[in-house]
Amino acid sequence: MEVLSPSRIHLPIFSIVGLVLLSTIACSAANSAHNTFLHCLVNHSEPSHPITSAIFTPNNASFSSVLEAYVRNLRFNTSTTRKPFLIVTALHVSHIQASIICAQKYNLQMKIRSGGHDYDGLSYVAEVPFFILDMFKLRTIEVDIHTETAWVQAGATVGEVFYKIANKSKIHAFPAGICPTVGIGGHLSGGSYGNLMRKYGLSVDNIVDAQMVDVQGRLLDRKSMGEDLFWAITGGGGSSFGVVLAYKIKLVRVPETVTVFNVQRTLEQNATDIVYKWQHVAPTIDNDLFIRLVLDVVNGTKTGTKTVRASFVALFLGDSKSLVSLLNEKFPQLGLKQSDCIETSWLRSVLFWTNINITAPLEILLDRQPQSPVNFLKRKSDYVQKPISKDGFEGIWKKMIELEDTLFQFNPYGGRMAEIPSTATPFPHRAGNLWKLQYQANWRQAGKEVTNHYINLTRKLHKYMTPFVSKNPREAFYNYKDLDLGINHNGKKSYAEGKVYGVEYFKDNFDRLVEIKTKVDPHNFFRNEQSIPTLPYAKS
Ligand SMILES: Cc1cc2nc3c(=O)[nH]c(=O)nc-3n(C[C@H](O)[C@H](O)[C@H](O)COP(=O)(O)OP(=O)(O)OC[C@H]3O[C@@H](n4cnc5c(N)ncnc54)[C@H](O)[C@@H]3O)c2cc1C
Ligand SMILES: *[C@@H]1O[C@H](CO)[C@@H](O)[C@H](O)[C@H]1NC(C)=O
Ligand SMILES: *[C@@H]1O[C@H](CO)[C@@H](O)[C@H](O)[C@H]1NC(C)=O
Ligand SMILES: *[C@@H]1O[C@H](CO)[C@@H](O)[C@H](O)[C@H]1NC(C)=O
Ligand SMILES: *[C@@H]1O[C@H](CO)[C@@H](O)[C@H](O)[C@H]1NC(C)=O
Ligand SMILES: *[C@@H]1O[C@H](CO)[C@@H](O)[C@H](O)[C@H]1NC(C)=O
Ligand SMILES: *[C@@H]1O[C@H](CO)[C@@H](O)[C@H](O)[C@H]1NC(C)=O
Ligand SMILES: *[C@@H]1O[C@H](CO)[C@@H](O)[C@H](O)[C@H]1NC(C)=O
Ligand SMILES: *[C@@H]1O[C@H](CO)[C@@H](O)[C@H](O)[C@H]1NC(C)=O
Repeated sequence: MEVLSPSRIHLPIFSIVGLVLLSTIACSAANSAHNTFLHCLVNHSEPSHPITSAIFTPNNASFSSVLEAYVRNLRFNTSTTRKPFLIVTALHVSHIQASIICAQKYNLQMKIRSGGHDYDGLSYVAEVPFFILDMFKLRTIEVDIHTETAWVQAGATVGEVFYKIANKSKIHAFPAGICPTVGIGGHLSGGSYGNLMRKYGLSVDNIVDAQMVDVQGRLLDRKSMGEDLFWAITGGGGSSFGVVLAYKIKLVRVPETVTVFNVQRTLEQNATDIVYKWQHVAPTIDNDLFIRLVLDVVNGTKTGTKTVRASFVALFLGDSKSLVSLLNEKFPQLGLKQSDCIETSWLRSVLFWTNINITAPLEILLDRQPQSPVNFLKRKSDYVQKPISKDGFEGIWKKMIELEDTLFQFNPYGGRMAEIPSTATPFPHRAGNLWKLQYQANWRQAGKEVTNHYINLTRKLHKYMTPFVSKNPREAFYNYKDLDLGINHNGKKSYAEGKVYGVEYFKDNFDRLVEIKTKVDPHNFFRNEQSIPTLPYAKS
C-alpha cells in the first residue's frame, strides 16, 4: 500500500477566521502550520501501527467511497452535503487516542461513526468543518458460550454479531435490532431494541462491560470508568462521552425453533377492529410473543380508491401450534391460521424480519452493505400510553390516506420492559408505555422540493398524532434521531438547547447525564447537534 507522507497530504489550515481547506491548493510556504494536525496524529499514534494508512483526505482516490460506504440515508449523500476534510479509519486504539488528543489541540469537530445508520446523519455530517473517526475496521467479535457473553467491537454490525453467536450455539441470541447492517457503536450506546425486547429488555439491559477512550485519551473499562460513566454509555449515546471501542454483552436464551408470521388485513378486512384489539393484546400477552404492527396506505379493491393495510409481524419463542392456540384464545380477531406460521431457527427469523428470503444463505448476514437499496428517509417517534379509540383510528386512517406516502410502525412494550426501572439505564420509556410509534417516510427521488415534501408529511402526521401520544414531555426514542426536536449550537445556550430534546429522549435521566457529562468532558469536546450539554457555568 502506498504510504502517504504527511507533507504530501493537503491539510486544513488555521487562520484567525478559522479553518480553511487546502484540498485544491498546493501546500506552500505555510506548510508546517498547515500540517500540524496531521503531524499531531502521527506523533500520537504508535509507530508499530502507522496512522498514515488510516488517513483519507479528499485528495485520496478512495476518499468518496470510504465516506459513502456507511451512508444509510441518501438525504446526506448529495453534492451540497458538507463533506469532512479528513477521515480516520481507525485500525488500532492509538488511532482513536491520537484523534481525540489532536482534535482538542486544534479545536476541531470530530464525528464518530460505526455503522452510519443515524437517521439524521449525525455521525458523518456537520454544519461546521469536521473530520470523521470511522470505526468500521474495528469489528472483532469474541463469543464465549461457556460464560454466555461476547466482546463485540463498535464497528461490528448486528448481523455479524447474530451470525457469530448462532455459529457457536443454536440456543443463544442477543436482544438488538434486527436490521443486519446497523453498527454496534451507535446502536448499543443509544439503547437499542429488537423483537426480543418483551422477553429480555433492550440491548443495554444486557451489557456487562465496555471499553471506551475518554477525552484524555485513556482507554477505560467499566471498572476504571466507574458506574456513572458506564451507565451513561448504555443508552445515553456514546458520542457525548467518548469513543466506545467495545461492549461486553450478555447472551440470552432462545429455543431452537421459533415461529414467525406476517398477517395482513386492510380496512375492508376489519383492520380497525383488529388494530383496536391489538393495543390491548400486544403489550400484555406472553413475553415470548412480539407482534409489531406496520400500517401503510395501499390501493383499495375498487379502482382508484385507497385503503390502510395493517401488517402484523410476529416473533414467537416457541412452536407454531402453541402460538396458534395462544392467539386463538387471546386474539381471535386476527384469525391466525397454522398456514400463516413459519417455524425456523432464531437466526433465520432475522432474515424473515428484514425481508430477506428465509432460505437465503446465512452468510448474507455478514454482508456489510444492505440487501435493499438505500433510500432517502426521515424518521420520527412517539410513545402511546393510552389505548386509542376506534374513532381515533378512523381519523388516523383518513389522515394517512390524505397524506398517502407515510408509514407507521408500532412496537409493543410491556413484558420485561415494564419491569426494569426507568432509571436503570438512561433509556426512560419503561412501565406505562403501550407501544412506541415510528413515523417513516422513504423516497427514491433526489431534490430539495421532494425532500421537503416528505419531511413535511412526517411533520404533519406527527402534529396530527398529538392528542394520542405522551405529553409533558412528549417522549421520543434517542436511537431514532430527529433534529426536529431541537438542535444544539454548543455555544452559551448549550444547556437550555440541550434540555429541549434531552428531556424528550431521556426524561428525568437527562439531569444525571448532564452531571456525568460535566464531570467527564467539562469542555464539551464530544459534541454534536443533539449531544448532552455540560452544566451552565461549568468550571474548567
Ligand atoms: C435501517 C435501520 C434500521 C434500524 N433498526 C433499528 C432497530 O431495530 N432498533 C433500534 O433500536 N434502532 C434501529 N435503528 C436505529 C439505530 O439503532 C441507530 O441509528 C443507531 O445509532 C445506529 O448505529 P450505527 O453505529 O449504525 O450509526 P452511526 O450513524 O455510526 O452512529 C449513530 C450515533 O452514535 C454515535 N456513535 C457511533 N459509534 C460510536 C462509538 N463507537 N462511540 C461513541 N459514539 C458512537 C455517532 O456519533 C452517532 O451520534 C435502525 C436504523 C436504520 C437506518
Ligand atoms: C511531532 O513530534 C516532533 C518530534 O517529536 C515535534 O518536533 C513536533 O513538533 C511534533 N508535531 C506536532 C504537531 O505535535
Ligand atoms: C489512498 O488511495 C490509494 C490509491 O487509491 C489507496 O491505495 C490507499 O489505500 C488509500 N488510502 C490510504 C489511507 O492509503
Ligand atoms: C452517493 O453519491 C455518489 C455520488 O453521486 C454515488 O456514486 C453513490 O452511488 C451514492 N450512494 C448511494 C448509496 O446511492
Ligand atoms: C460457523 O462458521 C464457519 C466459518 O464461517 C462455517 O464454516 C460453519 O459452517 C459455521 N457453522 C455453523 C454451525 O453455523
Ligand atoms: C368483519 O367483521 C364482521 C363482524 O364482526 C364479520 O361478519 C366479517 O366476516 C369480518 N370480515 C372479515 C373479512 O374478516
Ligand atoms: C394503485 O393504483 C394506481 C391507479 O389508481 C396504479 O397506477 C398503481 O399501479 C396501483 N398500485 C399497485 C401496487 O397496484
Ligand atoms: C426463496 O428462495 C427459494 C429458493 O431460491 C425460492 O424457491 C422461493 O420462491 C423464494 N421465496 C420467496 C418468497 O421469494
Ligand atoms: C413544507 O412546509 C413548509 C412549511 O410548512 C412550506 O413552506 C413548504 O412549502 C412545504 N414544502 C413542500 C414541498 O411541501
